[in-house]
Amino acid sequence: MLRTSAFADTIALPAGVAAWPKRGEVASATSETISKGRELYMRFCEQCHQPDGLGVVGRFPPIIGSHWVTGPPEVLIRILLDGLKGPVRVGGDSFDGVMPGSRDLLADSEISAVATYIRQWKLNAADSVEPPMVRRVRIATAGHPGPWTAEALEGTGNKRKWIIIVALVVTILIVAGILRARRQI
Ligand code: HEC
Repeated sequence: MLRTSAFADTIALPAGVAAWPKRGEVASATSETISKGRELYMRFCEQCHQPDGLGVVGRFPPIIGSHWVTGPPEVLIRILLDGLKGPVRVGGDSFDGVMPGSRDLLADSEISAVATYIRQWKLNAADSVEPPMVRRVRIATAGHPGPWTAEALEGTGNKRKWIIIVALVVTILIVAGILRARRQI
């Protein structure tokens, strides 16, 4: 079963993402893709995320059990292309670092292989990521200025703004109510 639904339910679709992946059986990638992905992981990722994929507490987040990895592939591709910076929660832990992107380093087929590998590695179970999808996201996000923030990828910026506006309005109404009540005494 895909473990994408909980994530998909809580975050808004990033611009250019048509839909969250559907629940269903995971189509296992070919062993060729998996071994290419493993090789790329060892070359470009494991110095930070560690050979066991569990990361380093407080410094590098885990790959195993991360909803960023098994969630919408369009979000994972964005992280791999342009990187990630600032506060992010992964598997219940907080991180606040910078990961460089690989836009100019890895081809579409390489991003697709490493993404597929980590989505199907150990306990992770999510669909393969195909090169045409990487191509689409690469074009849609061309010129993105540096690493993404988790907030931008989660589309929570707008939500937070509305919470602040509503809190302000409620406060003003309460103060106005208190002032009017005082005057009547
Ligand atoms: C120089 C160290 C470094 C390298 C190399 C690196 N990362 Fe990261 N990665 C990080 C850091 C730090 C974060 C968290 C950034 C933040 O705090 O916003 C992160 C976040 C992530 C995330 C989202 C959070 C999570 O753990 O699920 C994914 C997915 C990810 N990296 C995958 C990869 C893959 C795949 C590669 C190799 C292609 C890679 N990273 C290479 C340091 C690195």
